[in-house]
Amino acid sequence: MAPIDPHSFTDSTQPSTSHISLSLYFDFSSSTIHASALISLTNPHSGPFFLDTRSLSIDSVIDPQSKTPIPFSLSENDTIKGSQLSVSLSNHSSFIVTYTTSPSSTALQWLNPLQTFNKAYPFVYTQCQAIHARAVFPCQDTPAMRIRYSARLNIPDQLSAVMAARHVERRRPANNEAEELACGNSSWSAPGRMVEEFVMEQPVPPYLFAFAVGELGNREVGPRTRVFAEAAPELLDAAAREFAGTEDMIKQGEKLFGEYEWERFDLLVLPPSFPYGGMENPRMVFLTPTVIKGDASGAQVVAHELAHSWTGNLITNKTNEHFWLNEGFTTYAERRIVEVVQGEKRAALSIGIGWRGLNDEVERFKDNMEFTKLINNQEGIDPDDVYSQVPYEKGFQFLLRIERQVGRPTFDEFLKKYIATFKFKSIDTETFIDFLKANIPGIETQIDLKLWTEGTGIPPDAHEPDSSVYKMIVTLGNEFKNGRILREDEVADWQGQEWELYLKNLPKSIEASQLVGLDSRYRLSESKDYEVKVAFLQRAIAIGCRDYYNEVEKTLKEIGRMRYLRPLYTALVQGNGKEEDKVFAKRIFSEAREFYHPIAQGVVESILAKHL
Ligand code: BES
Ligand code: ZN
Repeated sequence: MAPIDPHSFTDSTQPSTSHISLSLYFDFSSSTIHASALISLTNPHSGPFFLDTRSLSIDSVIDPQSKTPIPFSLSENDTIKGSQLSVSLSNHSSFIVTYTTSPSSTALQWLNPLQTFNKAYPFVYTQCQAIHARAVFPCQDTPAMRIRYSARLNIPDQLSAVMAARHVERRRPANNEAEELACGNSSWSAPGRMVEEFVMEQPVPPYLFAFAVGELGNREVGPRTRVFAEAAPELLDAAAREFAGTEDMIKQGEKLFGEYEWERFDLLVLPPSFPYGGMENPRMVFLTPTVIKGDASGAQVVAHELAHSWTGNLITNKTNEHFWLNEGFTTYAERRIVEVVQGEKRAALSIGIGWRGLNDEVERFKDNMEFTKLINNQEGIDPDDVYSQVPYEKGFQFLLRIERQVGRPTFDEFLKKYIATFKFKSIDTETFIDFLKANIPGIETQIDLKLWTEGTGIPPDAHEPDSSVYKMIVTLGNEFKNGRILREDEVADWQGQEWELYLKNLPKSIEASQLVGLDSRYRLSESKDYEVKVAFLQRAIAIGCRDYYNEVEKTLKEIGRMRYLRPLYTALVQGNGKEEDKVFAKRIFSEAREFYHPIAQGVVESILAKHL
């Protein structure tokens, strides 16, 4: 046995998957998918062949030619990796697995009609990063693997489907289709069903597999961009307005990083329980509705997911231990795009907020410094549990450090060459470092590359940002201690980012009355911008100011984005002598749990378990 990834049963002595053809029958009444997967290998194989699965019930494994069964076994469940499906092949180069997903699949959120905007139809969507694709279909679920796929989704005809793949057609199911697909499901061709077909012709890591099914509508916002959301005109119009500048960003991305290789760049706005700000599913980025807020920062999330089209989706981290290659590069690329389309001040604010975030994370991990390293050991670690801003912001700082050393024109040229060289490949940090040394001779004598990639904490040659807007706001934050209240004229042109940076730089020891004073003037606890609101509420909880607990409860029950759940729940349960807060947190979670995505449920559970 030779595993290649601590999070996967994939074995290097076995062939790779070259293609998967999926047939998915959506049963909304039981929140399950009845499915078949035709898995093709790069070469014929005899002996055991391993696939990752999680909470899949495997019905059969079949030889596609003879339609006879192939022996298989399913291992006990590992809490991180799931169950290993071992198929005993005899010179097979393909086989079919028929299976059913679990209603509690960690990759799927099934929403009943009342949990949707229009309250008329159910909704389901995937979130496969980091290691949840295996809870939708059996696969070699490591980003080291790149697969092409096709999929037919059999859904109720009032609904429609989107995927991170090219849409081929929407049609009625054919009569004998079910038998052909070996999923033997007589409901496949029942009246009232529709089939939507998709193909992904470019090889992608399994975590980029994605679909959503619901009552969807869309608006065109650019020559290669439509925005999709639940079919509610006010939602679609607001989204179309928010993302009107998308084409400019794509063009800018192409100028900086080379051709856009994915043809379409569509956006899907999900229900409020979507656990991330955005997810870079190719051709169809998934977004939280909290990004629709009418200022620059919503578009920054789009810039980030767009930037993944080059860094992450074209060049992919080989395992999650090198996650910074995805997120650090993307954070850098995002800010380069933002700098051009929104101006230097917006980019500087984003860098400033990131710097604060990095420092806070390093503090949070002070007893577990492993996760302050860019390359970190994740043997026995669930990536969802150690998700942090370190790969984003320390990765960003590392690239900025190199940029400073060599100058922007040289670094830009280097980046273009890096992307052209490794596109459609999965690589590790060593590969990047070797390429860096080969293309920028002598760099290793100027920057301690080992310290940056393998060391803990923040290296001494990282710079605190020195933009004037950053310095001004940090100074204002520090002055709060002396009772210095912001004047209206000082904040007249502040947007969400300025407030966020200000709140995050307030001194640790402030009085509840001061915070209440600030809020009565500027209404931050009620801000429609969740970055601002959550930064404020987090502060209020930390200093034991109970005036805002109604707002905290409301927030935790209306938004499932983990970026907001994590700090609020953590602030409530962290530290001693806060029994009341802990009871409060537990009650809210028990009442909100059903609304959260399974991944978010798990993350909140582990925050509570750590402190209760
Ligand atoms: N790829 C990430 C989201 C992700 C990371 C999902 C790890 C699952 C596991 C995405 O590109 C991202 O970073 N989203 C950010 C937004 C951003 C502007 C920093 C988020 O969700 O907050
Ligand atoms: Zn990202």
